[in-house]
Formats: sequence, structure tokens, C-alpha cells
Amino acid sequence: MDIKEIKEYLGADWQAVQDSMKNVLNSDISLLNSTNASILSNSGKQLRPLLALMMARACSGMPASEATVRYAAAGELLHNATLLHDDVADESEQRRGKPTIYSLMGPSVSVLVGDYWLVKAMDLILGESESDTAVIKIFSKTLSDLAEGEMLQLQKAQKGDTDEQDYLRIIYNKTASLFEAVCVSAAVSVNASPEYVKAAKDYAVALGLAFQIKDDILDYAGTESVGKPLGVDILEQKMTMPLLGALVNAGAEEDARVRALVKDIVGHPEHRDEIVAFVKSNGGMEYASGRLDFYVQEAVDALSVLPKSYERELLEKLAHFTAKRDK
Ligand code: IPE
Ligand code: IPE
Ligand code: MG
Ligand code: MG
Repeated sequence: MDIKEIKEYLGADWQAVQDSMKNVLNSDISLLNSTNASILSNSGKQLRPLLALMMARACSGMPASEATVRYAAAGELLHNATLLHDDVADESEQRRGKPTIYSLMGPSVSVLVGDYWLVKAMDLILGESESDTAVIKIFSKTLSDLAEGEMLQLQKAQKGDTDEQDYLRIIYNKTASLFEAVCVSAAVSVNASPEYVKAAKDYAVALGLAFQIKDDILDYAGTESVGKPLGVDILEQKMTMPLLGALVNAGAEEDARVRALVKDIVGHPEHRDEIVAFVKSNGGMEYASGRLDFYVQEAVDALSVLPKSYERELLEKLAHFTAKRDK
């Protein structure tokens, strides 16, 4: 079953998420409305609301609640907001196979529209349900995680001293924390037991780490289907799992030499080919795949706490999809 089929399976719940995003974004400023519409029309995988709806169903055995739909839509709005900001930070020209808002309309529009989506996400969480305040707390933690993760990434890029523990903290903050927020808030939205909430959290964190490791593998080994610029992490001095694995394999002397190349990359972009060759010839890709498989398995194992259901099976399939995806 592919992602498209899962969305069809979710039926009215899925449509409700789409409607909710569209409605909350509506503005009487036509430039904002048309920009929103263009982002919504090239929406990406929409993995986060998919996870939310399936997690709510897996915990409760019932269709999503009104609160589940709001939290799921908020998670996707927040995700898009971070991408609008991230493309400015990374000066990125392409996303989802198309030119970014940043490249078409400039950094101000991308930042402002990102702010708008972010605030609308928070707005959507505050409805009539008792759980809304707790969920605002969950998402605000994610927002500060995101900012801290990006700052730590910059700090580490400047120093060139990232190790695997730093890397895991960065990817937890910038990616897994939002996966956690959407899955935990989904469980909370159906009044799941603390045990199920914990399972939702464990699944989401492991899946989020796996998802970002795969993103970082694709940066080295992806094809055009990824739909965004590749080979850019090194140029941004981001030391990700494939490079960290190769450094572990290569030993102390090579470690110092290659880290110095990464540190100098801004003035010497021509070093990239050498670093990529180093990663590939020192088992960096295999190392990263091994870590990816580890977190996918951890995600799958976390699900065993939940009752058996078709949704639980789909959550398991999504974990495996994360490792296999080519975009
Ligand atoms: C991209 O996320 C940013 C990362 C966390 C790696 P997705 O790959 O989920 O982006 P879209 O929404 O499907 O484009
Ligand atoms: C992940 O960082 C994006 C966010 C979580 C904001 P990246 O910079 O690696 O994401 P892509 O590769 O541009 O999607
Ligand atoms: Mg980026
Ligand atoms: Mg990336």
C-alpha cells in the first residue's frame, strides 16, 4: 500500500484535514491567499497528518475526533512554516520538484508566509476541547526544539566538531520533535491511556530520527526524484550520518584532515567531491543505512504496545517506507 492509498483509506478524516488547513489560512489579502494556494497545490507527502490520523485510530479503534483533525492539520501547517523558513536559511531554490517561494518571491515573503502558517497552526489547536491547552504546550516545546536545533546546527557547523551524539540531538530537535508532537497530540485527542501515549511518543521519535537520517542519506545518494537540491549538506558544513560514519571508520588522522576540509569548504567548494568520495569509500553510506534500519526497527517495536489493528499495520508499513523512500 502506498501513501496515496492510505489517504484514500482515511477518506472523510483526510478530507477534513485538508479543509481545515484551507479554511484557517484564508485571508482577505490576495497576495497571501494566492501564495497559500500555490503552496497547498504542491503539498508534498503530508506525512505528519497521516501519522496523526492513523495514530489516533490505532489508539482508539475509532475514526478521528474533531480535535484529532485540528491537531493533524496544525502539524502540517507548522511543518510547512518551518520549510518556508528553512529555505531562506539554506538559500534553497527548489522544493517538491518546483522553485521555492523564497526563490520566486524573495526571503521576506517566505519568512512572512511562514510566520502566518505558524500562527494559524497555533490558532487551530485552540478550539473547544479540554486537551487543547496541553497540546499547545506540546507544540510550543517543538517550536523551541526547532529553533535550538537549528542554532546548534549552526554552532557545530562553525566549529566542525559534530559527533554522533550532537547529530542525534540536532535531528531530534529539527525533525523528530515535530513527529513526536503530532503523534502524541493525536493520542491525547482520543484520550489514550498513558501507556499508549508513551508508545505513540516512542514510535514517533524513532521514526523522526530515521526520517531525517534518510533525508541526509538522500542528500548524498538521491536522484532527481527527491525534488530538492542534493549534495548541499556538506556545502552548508552540515556533518550528517554518512560523513560521521566514514569518519568513525577512517581513524583519527583522517578524521582531522577531513574535518579541516569541511571547515574550509565555504572558501573552497571544490573540496566537496573529495569529501563525498571519502564518505563513499570509507563505508559512510553503509554505516548510515545501518543506523537508519536501527531506528526503523525501534519505531516498529514501539507499536507492539498498541492493540493489533489495520492502522497499526499501516504505521508499521510507514516506518519501512521511511527507509525505502526516494523522495
Ligand atoms: C522535509 O520533510 C524536511 C525534513 C524534515 C527532512 P518532508 O520530506 O516530509 O517534506 P514534504 O512536506 O514531503 O515536502
Ligand atoms: C530539515 O532540515 C528542515 C526542517 C526541519 C526545518 P534540512 O535543511 O535538512 O531540510 P531540507 O533538506 O531542506 O528539506
Ligand atoms: Mg534545508
Ligand atoms: Mg536536507
